[in-house]
This record gives sequence, structure tokens and C-alpha cells, in this order.
Amino acid sequence: MTLIDQIDKERIPAHIAIIMDGNGRWAQAKGQPRTAGHAQGVEVVKNIAADAARIGVKFLTLYAFSTENWNRPTAEIEALMKLILDYLEEETFMKNNIRFRVIGGVDLLPPAVQKRLNDCIEHTAANDRMTLTIALSYSSRWELTHTMQKMANDVKKGILQPEDITEDFISSRLLTNFMPDPDLLIRTGGELRISNYLLWQCAYSEFYFCDTYWPDFDAECLYKAIIDFQHRQRRFGKTGDQVREEAQNPS
Ligand code: IPE
Ligand code: IPE
Ligand code: MG
Repeated sequence: MTLIDQIDKERIPAHIAIIMDGNGRWAQAKGQPRTAGHAQGVEVVKNIAADAARIGVKFLTLYAFSTENWNRPTAEIEALMKLILDYLEEETFMKNNIRFRVIGGVDLLPPAVQKRLNDCIEHTAANDRMTLTIALSYSSRWELTHTMQKMANDVKKGILQPEDITEDFISSRLLTNFMPDPDLLIRTGGELRISNYLLWQCAYSEFYFCDTYWPDFDAECLYKAIIDFQHRQRRFGKTGDQVREEAQNPS
């Protein structure tokens, strides 16, 4: 049975988040500059977005550049910014009926990138097959810090009461407020860490780590992660028996 046939089409994770890691090592292993890995990584983004949309994923959220990545050599940052600019072609999103969004400190990006991002967001706003979100100049602690500062300000101004700060309210104030929490978080490239990604949102996500470097990640790798996910029991604190019972007698 092929991998795609092993996927339960009724239980596709609604939201997959991916830490796309391993571009530099992929290139270095081939004796190429790290930027060659990033260039190949962009091709993989295009393919995986189309694959995910095709199998019915509703939200795909990709970690492309962290706040910590600003500490990389300037030449690598510049090459990445250029690749991002080249990647942002509206036609591909329109053709695949993909809504494009971005999360992160967008105002730190070069103006040309900001403009292209905004154009893509605006022109794809009505697309509804899948929402593709790119995390750019993003880190979770940065996001949480800014959100807390804004909420503290609202309390100070008297337009927000401390007791109104519930879990749902916090989620609604985060940059990710237009998406559900990730069901599945994938990290490629072999590292077993979260690197400041969606810390609040991944409270109950299933984690899947694979050694494959992002430039080698393909539809088969994605299917493997989804099959692995589908073999897990998500208990959310309950017992396994409770979860089975609830599945048999949905309320
Ligand atoms: C991920 O690949 C892409 C970015 C962080 C921009 P890396 O560039 O981190 O590649 P490795 O981990 O050094 O191989
Ligand atoms: C995480 O990868 C960030 C992105 C994939 C954009 P890094 O390569 O920056 O993470 P660390 O430094 O190995 O944790
Ligand atoms: Mg890395």
C-alpha cells in the first residue's frame, strides 16, 4: 500500500506547523554555500504547500526566519531576504486557492519585502482552500512579550479588566488569532528542540521530528508524519479509556 493510501482522509490534521531546518547543512554536505540550501528550501516550500492543500490541510504555518536568525552573517540574511522576495509570487497562491499570511516583526524586514508581503496578503485574502502562514522575524517569546505589553497598556487605560484576561482572550490577542492551534508540529533536520516557535499555541500539539534536511523533505515525508500523527491517541489530560469511549459515543 502506498503511503498516501495509508492516510485516513477523514482525520487530516487541520493545522500543521513546520520548523524548516537543515538548509545550511544540506548545502555544506554537498560542498555548496549555505545559501544554495536556502534556495532549494524555497522550492520545497512551494511543493509542500501544494501537497498539503491537496490532501486537505487547512492551515500550514512555516517557520522561515526567527528573531534569533538576525544574528547570522549579513550576507546570509541578505540572501534569505532576496529569496523571500522572489518566492512571493501571487499567481502560485491564486492558482492553488491559498490564502497567504505572515506572523512576526514584519516592520524589521526590507521595505521591498514588506510591500510584497502586503500585496500577497491583500490579493489572496478571499482564497479559502488553505491558509499558508510564514513566520518571519518571529519568535514566540517576542510575540508573547509584545502581546503582554499591549494588554498591560489596555488595563492601564481602563479598557481591559485583569479578570477578562482568560486563555481564550490571550489566544485572541496573539498574532496567530486567525488560526487554530497546531495539531501537528514537524521539525526537519534532526534537532530535537522548538527554537522559540509557537510556545503558547503548541501546548497540546503532537511533535514529529525527522532527520531529513528541509531541502530533501517531500510529499512522502509529509505523509509519513501525518500517518505517525494518526496513530497517536490525543488524550488532553484524560485517560485512554475516556477518549475511546468519547470517540464511540460522540455527544
Ligand atoms: C533553516 O535552515 C532555515 C533558517 C533558519 C533560515 P538552517 O539555515 O538553520 O540550516 P542548518 O540548521 O544550519 O543546517
Ligand atoms: C529555527 O532554526 C528557525 C527556523 C527554522 C526559521 P534554527 O536553525 O535557527 O534553530 P537553532 O538555532 O538550531 O535552534
Ligand atoms: Mg538550523
